[in-house]
Amino acid sequence: MIKADAILLDVDGTLWDSTELVAEAWMQSLKEDGIERKITAAQLKGLFGRPMDAIADLLLPELEPEKRYPALERCMEREEKILAENTKNIAYPGVAETIRRLAAKIPVCIVSNCQSGYIELVMEKLGITDVIADHECFGNNGLQKKENIALVAARNGYKAPVYVGDIRGDLEAARGAGIPFIHASYGFGHVEGADAVIGNFTDLPGALGLETALDSYAAVDRFTGVERYTAVDHYTQLKPMTELAETEKGIAQVERELMTLAIAARECAYAPYSGYQVGAALLTEDGRVYIGGNIENASYGATNCAERTAAYKAVSEGARRFRMIAISGGKGKKLNYAYPCGICRQVLREFSDPKRMIVLVGISPTEYKRYTLEELLPDSFGPDFKKGMD
Ligand code: THU
Repeated sequence: MIKADAILLDVDGTLWDSTELVAEAWMQSLKEDGIERKITAAQLKGLFGRPMDAIADLLLPELEPEKRYPALERCMEREEKILAENTKNIAYPGVAETIRRLAAKIPVCIVSNCQSGYIELVMEKLGITDVIADHECFGNNGLQKKENIALVAARNGYKAPVYVGDIRGDLEAARGAGIPFIHASYGFGHVEGADAVIGNFTDLPGALGLETALDSYAAVDRFTGVERYTAVDHYTQLKPMTELAETEKGIAQVERELMTLAIAARECAYAPYSGYQVGAALLTEDGRVYIGGNIENASYGATNCAERTAAYKAVSEGARRFRMIAISGGKGKKLNYAYPCGICRQVLREFSDPKRMIVLVGISPTEYKRYTLEELLPDSFGPDFKKGMD
């Protein structure tokens, strides 16, 4: 884990992949200059990250310098127009949300070798202009990336910034500025010797020790007031969980994730009378996850269990079918197997098929007992009881 006081981000290959659109823009522009050239996204992946003049030298060596640089200038202008008009999402998954989440905790800046105006365009397209603390690029001042990293750190007083990029040049720039480097391995380059590697942009908070399990979920904002996610974000983000749960390998991953959330959800408990904090994480059939803690009351009988908190949150937001629930309970840090009470079993029964519904009772993300609801509540009374009455 890297401890940083600011995050400096590269753009191309780290935040988004604009190479398809840029290839098209450059071809159009060169054609207008009478140069018929096939430019591919793959080719640009090998060129991006370098300063503009270096790209021009590699791409258009046959042109005299006095033609070469203006031709690339015009390519950039066309590129800016095409990118500004583009409505297709070319950002890597979760980039904007993750930057917003990070920016609530730590300054986030952008440092790139790009032309002037490109970072502003990226920020606008991603909807992150308001959360980026500072940005700098080669096009503004002609400085190398390592110098711009040092410049941004110095003018903001960052003592321990980290650079996140995808190619070797990014690692070298970070090294040149004397700061750690995180490699975005999904980007354009193969890099060895990074201080950390992220396979998805959404792994960045974890690599910096800035994320607890709850942070990725909509539920957290209700308790911290820091983050705001809509139910729709939440839904899109988690839909793959129910799909994963249909495969044997995937189910282990989903179970581990739900158990992690259930343990984290204990932080949401209000249990001043028993001191026994229970957390539950409920996965619905349509892919949403709701967490809940037990909520006690001075009149003890009014207490609501963690499982029902999660279940009622789900139902009141429109969910009607449950797929799985993870539960964890204990006093303070010491966890034990907290089985759902009879009332909660009955509530789960209302919204699930008891043979399909999975109940996990656990003490760590990997130590849990697994039951079907049928096993915990055999021969149950359910919403289909009316059938026998007609
Ligand atoms: N509790 C739950 O949250 N879930 C269960 O299934 C069993 C009990 C809570 C209720 C109460 O706040 C505390 O644990 C002690 O009973």
